[in-house]
Amino acid sequence: MTTEKRKKPSPTRFSLVGAGRMGTALGRILSRSSRFRLEGIICGSLASSRRAAARIGRGRGFSAATAAVGESNLVLICVPDRQIAQVARALAASDLCWKNRTVLHTSGAQDRSELSALARKGAHTGSIHPLQTLTGGQSDVRNLRGAPVFLEGDARAVRVGREIARALGGRAAVIPAEGKTAYHLCACFLSNYLVCLVSLGLDLLPNRSGRRFARDWTGLFTPLLRATVANLEKGGPAGALTGPISRGDSLTLKKHLDHLDKAAPELGELHRLLALRAVSLAEKTGRLTPRTLSGLRRMLRPRKK
Ligand SMILES: NC(=O)c1ccc[n+]([C@@H]2O[C@H](COP(=O)([O-])OP(=O)(O)OC[C@H]3O[C@@H](n4cnc5c(N)ncnc54)[C@H](OP(=O)(O)O)[C@@H]3O)[C@@H](O)[C@H]2O)c1
Repeated sequence: MTTEKRKKPSPTRFSLVGAGRMGTALGRILSRSSRFRLEGIICGSLASSRRAAARIGRGRGFSAATAAVGESNLVLICVPDRQIAQVARALAASDLCWKNRTVLHTSGAQDRSELSALARKGAHTGSIHPLQTLTGGQSDVRNLRGAPVFLEGDARAVRVGREIARALGGRAAVIPAEGKTAYHLCACFLSNYLVCLVSLGLDLLPNRSGRRFARDWTGLFTPLLRATVANLEKGGPAGALTGPISRGDSLTLKKHLDHLDKAAPELGELHRLLALRAVSLAEKTGRLTPRTLSGLRRMLRPRKK
């Protein structure tokens, strides 16, 4: 048995360009891992760079990107999507040397081509998208830990991305650049538009402006949302579907359609699309007869004005 100790790899020195919701949570987790060391942070102003450093509890806020990036081997760009290419061009135009550095941005929809100015200067480039929703609240760090991470970029960028995923404790998957828009749209449906569906659904409540619902709606409806997500986790969309369509309850569907016509006709088309998908999911379970299924589909044909 050898007594020689294996030398620990030195931590990857990284800097953050942009430290709002994503940069702060990512910075907090990575800077507490033995594999990474946070150096510089740059936001829209010196004051916000310093505030970010205080929130993260590591690293130092700067007013110039060149000083923030310094000697870091890894630069994480966590600015709004529309700013990424502009930030990359500004960094590429600086007198920093980009050979042997890796630059990753955290957009789900954009790919490494946003960083082409830096790639031309010799940087390894890619994107790393943790699939999670961060609101700037206390729970962001907890939610980001264990989130799956989608990677895209050159070989070194993907390798560095995998190390970040390991530090976050989530699974890593590589996604082709041309698949990113569809992937991100899917994430928007599952998270952002779910929020919008909840908002539209709550607007249908009677006396929504009344005190009782205004005060209690979160408490009243979140158990339903939570159970729905748990059922989805267990049985996928077909297994999780309940409600009148899954039972072939045409009487209730008719009541809903009549009510929507009067109360919120502008939601008619959206409801029709969702209800038709519910019929298809119900069909997959094999619980409804072909006659019931075609009856439901007939009811969901666009109504004549
Ligand atoms: N939030 C999420 O749930 C989430 C999830 C997955 C991926 N992402 C991705 O993460 C990225 C950042 O999103 P976010 O939600 O964290 O945005 P955010 O909360 O609005 O934060 C943006 C940060 O970028 C800084 N910034 C803006 N322009 C800059 C510039 N030219 N130079 C340096 N810093 C600049 C801002 O500085 P100031 O503080 O001075 O304004 C702020 O710190 C986006 O690509 C987004 O798609 C976000």
